[in-house]
Amino acid sequence: MTSVINVNLPTQSYEIAIAPASLDQIGQSLAGLKLGKKVLLVSNPTIFKHFGKIAVDSLEAAGFQVASYCLPAGERYKTLNSIQKLYDIALENRLERSSTMVALGGGVIGDMTGFAAATWLRGINVVQVPTTLLAMVDSAIGGKTGVNHPHGKNLIGAFHQPRFVLIDTQVLKTLPVRELRAGMAEVIKYGVIWDAELFNQLEQSKRLDQLRYIKPELMDAILTRSCQAKADVVGKDEKEGGLRAILNYGHTVGHAVESLTNYRLLKHGEAVGIGMVAAGQIAVNLGLWQQADADRQNALIEKAGLPTKLPAGLDIEGIIEALQLDKKVKDGKVRFVLPTQIGVVTVTDEVTSDHIRQVLQKM
Ligand code: NAD
Ligand code: GLY
Repeated sequence: MTSVINVNLPTQSYEIAIAPASLDQIGQSLAGLKLGKKVLLVSNPTIFKHFGKIAVDSLEAAGFQVASYCLPAGERYKTLNSIQKLYDIALENRLERSSTMVALGGGVIGDMTGFAAATWLRGINVVQVPTTLLAMVDSAIGGKTGVNHPHGKNLIGAFHQPRFVLIDTQVLKTLPVRELRAGMAEVIKYGVIWDAELFNQLEQSKRLDQLRYIKPELMDAILTRSCQAKADVVGKDEKEGGLRAILNYGHTVGHAVESLTNYRLLKHGEAVGIGMVAAGQIAVNLGLWQQADADRQNALIEKAGLPTKLPAGLDIEGIIEALQLDKKVKDGKVRFVLPTQIGVVTVTDEVTSDHIRQVLQKM
């Protein structure tokens, strides 16, 4: 079954197609978009080994002239050096204004390919083919692209929307279990911030920590409802002037914890899970949210096999200090996204260091 979700934007709308075993149709899908002949497929060696040939064969069969390039795997290669490499390959292959970069990978490959496409010749087409759950429900959609600066994550970037997003659910079969769980944190996030029905469906599943325990109907709902939530929010606020900030639920404390552990100890999604537990409890303590609903959220996070406690030995004052460096700080005040009901959140700058300290000390 194929589900198609539209991301409706004033300048360039696009489709997200979700279907099992659809990667071998990528050539046909792109042929309908009236793109130029040249395609640069960007991946990493692990992902390319699994899925590169299927994608390249399909693109070539549809008449595209395809070059492919693998960047080394890992967040530590999400740098301007890697982008320089992509520019070199783009030049070597004479990519033109009408050409397309295809990102075949998780969020790291997607963000870098998107950024290279945003800046090469002042912007060429990019198509996102996410291969992690996190990239499927979050990073491949919405046009945030970029790389890390030695002093901070995602500090360099551009908004550059994809022309198309192709989600082949079969590729999740090779995804390491820890990566699946990390992606599930973002799915739970959509349930808390936007979609109470998705939250209820997640609650009905006995387990969420391994692909084989998640029924196909639930997996369909996870993907379609999460992508729809992201499409709705981005469609209303493409450049994060306001509403889009709600997608950062759990990310404020999450980013601080990631940065204090040097991005090594925890996956992004794991840190977001911890951040959601913290933000949920802050909301309860401020009288904005019911403890029972926070408990339901935390039970889902645990069911997804994600941590709900701070890593041992982490300095709480260090976290509070790191929060001041968050991209969401405005006029020196940390802005928190806090739930008020399952499916509804508010953005506030009324959270003080004491509120944060009180919650973190119990985690
Ligand atoms: P990732 O891209 O690092 O991928 C995780 C690991 O899984 C990698 O080792 C990769 O090689 C492997 N892998 C990927 N797909 C696989 C598959 N199908 N089978 C086997 N192995 C596979 O991690 P991620 O969680 O997808 O992305 C994290 C990145 O996304 C971060 O850099 C984060 O900043 C970014 N991000 C961006 C946005 C956005 O809106 N642009 C949103 C959230 C996160
Ligand atoms: N992942 C947050 C956003 O896309 O805005």
